[in-house]
Amino acid sequence: MNKKALNWAQLGFQYSKTDYRFTATYENGTWNAGSLVDDEMILVHEGAPSLHYAQQCFEGMKAQSAEDGRVLLFRPDLNSERMNLTTQRLLMPEVPKRLFIRAIEETVRANSAWIPPYGSGASLYIRPMLIGVGENLGLNPAQQYEFRVFVSPVGPYYKDAGLAVISLAVSEMDRAAPAGTGSFKAGANYAGGLLATLKAKELGANEALYLDSAEHRYIDEAGSANIVIAMKDGSFITPSSNAILPSITRRSLMHLAGKQLSMKTEERPIDLRKEFAQFEEVAACGTAAVLSPVGKIWFDKKWHTVCQDGQTVGPIMQEMYDLLVGIQKGELADNFNWLHEVEI
Ligand code: PLP
Ligand code: COI
Repeated sequence: MNKKALNWAQLGFQYSKTDYRFTATYENGTWNAGSLVDDEMILVHEGAPSLHYAQQCFEGMKAQSAEDGRVLLFRPDLNSERMNLTTQRLLMPEVPKRLFIRAIEETVRANSAWIPPYGSGASLYIRPMLIGVGENLGLNPAQQYEFRVFVSPVGPYYKDAGLAVISLAVSEMDRAAPAGTGSFKAGANYAGGLLATLKAKELGANEALYLDSAEHRYIDEAGSANIVIAMKDGSFITPSSNAILPSITRRSLMHLAGKQLSMKTEERPIDLRKEFAQFEEVAACGTAAVLSPVGKIWFDKKWHTVCQDGQTVGPIMQEMYDLLVGIQKGELADNFNWLHEVEI
């Protein structure tokens, strides 16, 4: 199929209206089969619990073109599992894995003209979402739900191109409470983060960094990404916290660091102030963020520089990035069976 005439290399992380989206409805305890539609608008009742009480959740993933033309998803089964952990927490109906995967495949296939070509630096972002519709006034779960998947070609999340160094500013506001909804992909977590992101940007940072909300000591995560750290002792660590999103990218990086780079890996509380001097390289990671090296972090009213000059991509994060993206684009061996091909 002919590709759309887009300037792929210039794309940022923005919504472009593609031709089709998938929608399925849950009513009276069952999902209908769902279908592709071309209307990007959703008609929602004014009493819908998704609008008032944020009974909604979403996922984020990407499809990439390989050099041989294959279209590849990265570990979509984990997105399905994570969405269903969120649905349990928000008292929403589970989206069966078969429906989830079929909806994604159908949407990607129907929009194949929008999948950025291999080597363009862009990818097709996939946004599965689940919203409580119908009418409610009291604080009760919705009676009807819409599961929808739309896609949009996107470029880098933070910067203009490729692997660029970013900066983070520790937020004075909390993102999530220890036993709250931080570990679920609920939209409500993100609304509360908008002001923190704005404040971080006012300081000149790309994004907010949250510390644990109980003590404000331990690193939790960034506004839209988890954190991984290469330590001076050669280990590769990431925060353990029950208030952060269990990132699929992070799980994959930790696995690669241990299995492919033979690094000692550890998931544990990381005390920002006490351990900062031991950080060799820091990165934010996620579907949108991919792996973005962090050059400096704002905390205690000043910038703290990581990795010498705070501007150069360090060798460990460069290697991690090359490994991760190489697998995602089908350039490197898929040793762990992470890729899922969409037949176009
Ligand atoms: N943390 C937050 C708050 C996110 O929004 C995301 C993005 O999905 C991540 C972490 C990274 O998760 P993943 O790697 O599964 O995309
Ligand atoms: C993703 O990385 O997929 C996300 O959902 C982050 C979002 C805030 C853009």
